[in-house]
Amino acid sequence: MTTESELVRAGQTYLYPNYRQPPFVFVRGQGSLLFDGSGKRYLDMYAGIAVSTLGHAHPKLAQAIAEQAGKLLHVSNYFYNEPNVRLAEKLCGLSGMDRAFFCNSGTEAIEATLKLTRRHFFSKGEAERQRVIAFRNSFHGRTLGALAATGQEKYKDGFGPLPGVSHVGFGDIDAVRRAMGPDVAGILVEPLQGEGGVLPAPPGFLRELRALADASGALLLADEVQTGIGRTGTFLAFQGEGVQPDVVALAKALGGGVPIGAMLCRKFLQEALPPGSHGSTFGGNPLASAAALAVLEVLENEGLMVQVKQRGEELSALLAKLAAKFPKLVECARGRGLLQALVLREGVDARKVMGSLQEAGVLLTIAGGQALRFSPPLIVSKLELEEAAAILERALSTYA
Ligand SMILES: Cc1ncc(COP(=O)(O)O)c(C=O)c1O
Repeated sequence: MTTESELVRAGQTYLYPNYRQPPFVFVRGQGSLLFDGSGKRYLDMYAGIAVSTLGHAHPKLAQAIAEQAGKLLHVSNYFYNEPNVRLAEKLCGLSGMDRAFFCNSGTEAIEATLKLTRRHFFSKGEAERQRVIAFRNSFHGRTLGALAATGQEKYKDGFGPLPGVSHVGFGDIDAVRRAMGPDVAGILVEPLQGEGGVLPAPPGFLRELRALADASGALLLADEVQTGIGRTGTFLAFQGEGVQPDVVALAKALGGGVPIGAMLCRKFLQEALPPGSHGSTFGGNPLASAAALAVLEVLENEGLMVQVKQRGEELSALLAKLAAKFPKLVECARGRGLLQALVLREGVDARKVMGSLQEAGVLLTIAGGQALRFSPPLIVSKLELEEAAAILERALSTYA
């Protein structure tokens, strides 16, 4: 039998070295727990970067996947398949949108959003309307289009030239107003910047963006790849602000761990991408669609979004306590629902803190350089959050 250290060596030899994996291997999970090859237990407070909505090995998700795998895996979009049609209907109902296009990742959902935006104005005879306004510190994905929209230079280094996008300060409505013009096709925004450091948009900002977009005839494009599917306590974070975008990009938590992305749009955009203009071989396949349907069923039928609000309040109280206890190490606690962070001060080595948490059996990620990000499964319990916070408190004590 292959040992854990043999697997690590093979990974170090054969995998493309664009990541920085630690020297152990996860072999199974249960709820909010993960276990490595030596049997060590970890509290999963990151959910595979905000993906594992129902935690690990959820019986309803596992059953839906197994049943679908035994029935039909793939037919391509040349034909309808039942789980995909039902998923499109369900997503439109939950989001208040009218049409769903399916792909396989967040980046692809953003790419579809950008292409739809261009094509919409092209088909209206306004091909000069191409410019997109996006925000500094944003993250929208890794393909050249999604990367162009991303507002952080570190992700773009060495990949230029990229299509032009105007980046303005997140939350700065006057800067958006100044950047608007007759050539602006869309404003692309995360309601809460995830990778940028768990930064919620200031109150009223999304509403003001809606008004600016309406006034100039541009589209309001919501990147809910990280915030969608109940993570902030409403199905879309935009809904929490009472704002309706024209396009929404979803992925991550939608399949609970099975790759799937979606671009949802309003009815007036349904002719922008006619047959043949955009597509995806795997997009909307029966397996991923059945997984997403199972995730949405649990989310709705088991009151998960109400639970997220409750857990979110508990987590924010725990993080506020840590911020108050370690003022020299912690700048602030921020976030919403089950997407929150303890932001460490400049000069505190966030990677080192994350490493010592990993040693102690808690998995968190770093966003925006200094934010220790919590994005646990939505089924996480109060006790698990308390245990993670207690371990974080011990780790911070050693730096104080
Ligand atoms: C807001 C946002 N948009 C887009 C993406 C890209 O998604 P993916 O990694 O699935 O391509 C991410 C990934 O972190 C994200 O957080």
